[in-house]
Amino acid sequence: GFSPRVFSGIQPTGNLHLGNYLGAIRKFVELQASHDCIFCVVDLHALTAQLVQDDLVSQTRQIAAAFIASGIDPEKHIVFNQSRVPGHAELAWIFNCVARIGWMNRMTQFKDKAGRDRENASLGLLAYPSLMAADILLYRGTHVPVGDDQKQHLELARDIAAKFNNDFSGRIEALELGVPMRMGEEDVNGYFPLTEPLIEGPATRVMSLKDGSKKMSKSDPSDLSRINLTDDADTIARKIRKAKTDPLPLPGDVEGLAGRPEADNLVGIYAALKGVTKAEAIRDQGGRQFSEFKPALAELAVEVLGPVTAEMRRIMGDPAEIDRVLARGGERANEIAGTTMRDVKRIVGL
Ligand code: ADP
Ligand code: NA
Repeated sequence: GFSPRVFSGIQPTGNLHLGNYLGAIRKFVELQASHDCIFCVVDLHALTAQLVQDDLVSQTRQIAAAFIASGIDPEKHIVFNQSRVPGHAELAWIFNCVARIGWMNRMTQFKDKAGRDRENASLGLLAYPSLMAADILLYRGTHVPVGDDQKQHLELARDIAAKFNNDFSGRIEALELGVPMRMGEEDVNGYFPLTEPLIEGPATRVMSLKDGSKKMSKSDPSDLSRINLTDDADTIARKIRKAKTDPLPLPGDVEGLAGRPEADNLVGIYAALKGVTKAEAIRDQGGRQFSEFKPALAELAVEVLGPVTAEMRRIMGDPAEIDRVLARGGERANEIAGTTMRDVKRIVGL
């Protein structure tokens, strides 16, 4: 089989938030103890939503600073930004020719982001999941820690890998580039692994603090909807105090959270920050009024995020050092990517 390798990415679209931290970054930190990891600031992806941007470079540095401030070791693992490694765009083009338009049209994120005027969405927005598959498979990544919103895109990455392995099976075999793997019922030699998503824990989908039906997002126009990793203690406390809730106290058991999206969300955040399950969080906080629970949650959030925010600020004070880290990471990534692209070109006959 394939040797395990973790890959994940975050877009430099500003407003890095608690959902990104709990759903993604904190898992990266856990996985680096046991896995060979590649963490990428996916700046090419950021162009799909908005082409002209003034501060892509500083936002890229901010994500890199957040990785390092959270505890990712850029000496042991690879931290870089996508546009430094040409293989991402190159493999994405091959995958654009492997994937079908219908697969892309079915993506809920595309439908959400394109809105009603789909004909006017960028072609890049439609092809986003193909670039994401390339990001992962350029390194033959086997495990991808992400939030729940990325589940469908990861299924698509598997579909692309499977179709590539199938369509080119003869050539992969003849060139002796295959790795023994299980595909469905069969043992085959494939070039790309079928990547597994790692979506676990109480905060795989952190919701907006203002609307329990929307996920916390970088692009939400309301700053009160999210806790940013750059927020100070007072701001965090104020946002939690203002978070939408229902009038009931917290339930006595986890089942009681059903049908109460705001309560469920805040308990999930509490549990994730504390490193316990939702059931354990309820055992601890059940029955309390929001007027008591919210300050406890705010205190916990400040305790966990405060050191990360302070360290991020310190790292951001030396942009040249961040650029050096990204450049070195890019060189290391490019070595792996170069090998993959040489193989892929032979496989497809280029
Ligand atoms: P966003 O969706 O906020 O623009 P990205 O698309 O860059 O951010 O996602 C970065 C990572 O953060 C992904 O793994 C994504 O699944 C995760 N993520 C984003 N929003 C949330 C959320 N509200 N809850 C949990 N994880 C999230
Ligand atoms: Na996202």
